[in-house]
Amino acid sequence: MKWYDNAIIYQIYPKSFQDSNGDGIGDLPGIIQRLDYIEQLGVNTIWLNPIFVSPQVDNGYDVSNYFAIDPSLGTIDDFEDLLKEAHRRNIYIILDLPINHTSDQHPWFRDAVTNKNSIFKDYYIWKKQVNGHEPNNWGSFFGGSVWSKVHSDSDYYYFHLFDKKMPDLNWKNVEVQNSMADIAKFWIQKGVDGFRLDAFIHMAKADLGQMALSNSEKYPVDDTFFANLPELKKYLGGFVSQIKKENSDIFLLGEAASANAYQAAEYTQPEENGCDMVVSSDNFGEVYDDDNFGDVPKFFRPRKLSLNRFKNTFVKWESVLANTSFPALTWGNHDISRFVDRLNLPTDDNKLKKSLAVMMFLQRGIPIIYYGEELGQHGLKYEKLEDFDDQRAVDLIQNLRAKDIPDEQILELLNDQDEMTARGPFQWDDSQFVGFSNAQPWNWAEHSEENAQQEQSDPNSVLNFYEKLLRLKSTDCFTLGNYRLLKTDDNLFVFERRTSNDYGLVVVNISNKSIDYPLPVKFDCRIALSNQDIKLTNGQIHLDPWGCCALVNDGRID
Ligand code: NOJ
Repeated sequence: MKWYDNAIIYQIYPKSFQDSNGDGIGDLPGIIQRLDYIEQLGVNTIWLNPIFVSPQVDNGYDVSNYFAIDPSLGTIDDFEDLLKEAHRRNIYIILDLPINHTSDQHPWFRDAVTNKNSIFKDYYIWKKQVNGHEPNNWGSFFGGSVWSKVHSDSDYYYFHLFDKKMPDLNWKNVEVQNSMADIAKFWIQKGVDGFRLDAFIHMAKADLGQMALSNSEKYPVDDTFFANLPELKKYLGGFVSQIKKENSDIFLLGEAASANAYQAAEYTQPEENGCDMVVSSDNFGEVYDDDNFGDVPKFFRPRKLSLNRFKNTFVKWESVLANTSFPALTWGNHDISRFVDRLNLPTDDNKLKKSLAVMMFLQRGIPIIYYGEELGQHGLKYEKLEDFDDQRAVDLIQNLRAKDIPDEQILELLNDQDEMTARGPFQWDDSQFVGFSNAQPWNWAEHSEENAQQEQSDPNSVLNFYEKLLRLKSTDCFTLGNYRLLKTDDNLFVFERRTSNDYGLVVVNISNKSIDYPLPVKFDCRIALSNQDIKLTNGQIHLDPWGCCALVNDGRID
């Protein structure tokens, strides 16, 4: 068994967790100050969004120096202190490693464009223009073409799937694989316990001369040409083998935004030098009813939690990965609004927030909790459209205004759906800047009331419930036990977890009506956790609206 088989991950957006020097930006010393809180919560692993030196075009995902800490977040000494302090509390640290691209300010790219004989030219992807145009019509995730020129009079374009200041690396080049492995080894020597491999599914590209089909768009964004292509396993293997050879305990969490369960299984085959777990948007993106919202692009559409879609998604992931790896159990991350805003939930009742946590995290898999989620914290609400400092939002505003959609409607949509709303400061208390900083936070707007200080003193708070839930999650039954969904109706989510010694049953009522649920097996059970007063009568459990419970039997079950 590896240490990460019972990992419970807490995702920290470092800029927004705790500011220690009064500049309005969270930092590493700030995280150290809050480690007691994190330990008390019951997580055992922290994933930090990128902390390397970066021009911050994409909040750290554009790295210009992988061997140092961005000065806005602290120093290498601060990082070493953080590692030491975290490890002292038995908390592991995993770093976010952007491996698909660098910043255009990275010395490899600078050398490639300024030095005619640069050995780094082949670290990136170049192609000659065709009839004075881009070599193909592929669209970038950040808008426009995937091709840009360094100088307008150049004959050559370079490739970038994201911002034009984030050129893609050429993973066909073995030197790229080696250089990335060297970077990882540097941090492993410092003592880190793993990495999140950012955007790794994009390392392989199709034939660059291939055009994408399009009806109207000039630059259609089509994953076919740059996501989940077979060659990527070779490139990933070239990198991972170098790391795992000497450090088999390093946890590799792949970010596989568009991978389905079968592809996830491919990437996590044991002994194949891939990832240990992957997290896909499918884990949290496909759990809503997809209504028709006409002009609104899919990413921004209001979504309603659909219990059936949730079940379908997880039954698939659980079944496909059952003998391979753990599914990632998560409601979201920094790339999407907070789920309590996004899923258009029928109520803001704490009972529902607790039930959703039970339903997600007690399944088989590794939880990833997005900072603040344990408080039931909502996203920021901006006052006006100009406050959205986010390219995707800027494009959407332009697009919807052109279709005469009123500004108030666009504002409401963005406040519920845009990723910047999810990147607000962690709410520590009810002071002016929520205990995050003495200065105005870098990302600031109207915020909800939930805060850690108040919740710590309230026995019925979402925070106290998370603490109990995560303690239950770390038992063998809910970590290692087999998973099976039981036949249920549209309002109930019921699943069991079994090891040779334990039987766990989880029953969640996702409706505004009380429900009686007959126990599927006869056993003397222990109520391990519930968000209401539970009595078992005549082999039935009575659940209040939005009620939930987890039952455990330590004996043998028939
Ligand atoms: C995925 C990250 O989560 C996202 O924030 C980033 O923009 C892209 N990868 C590019 O690195």
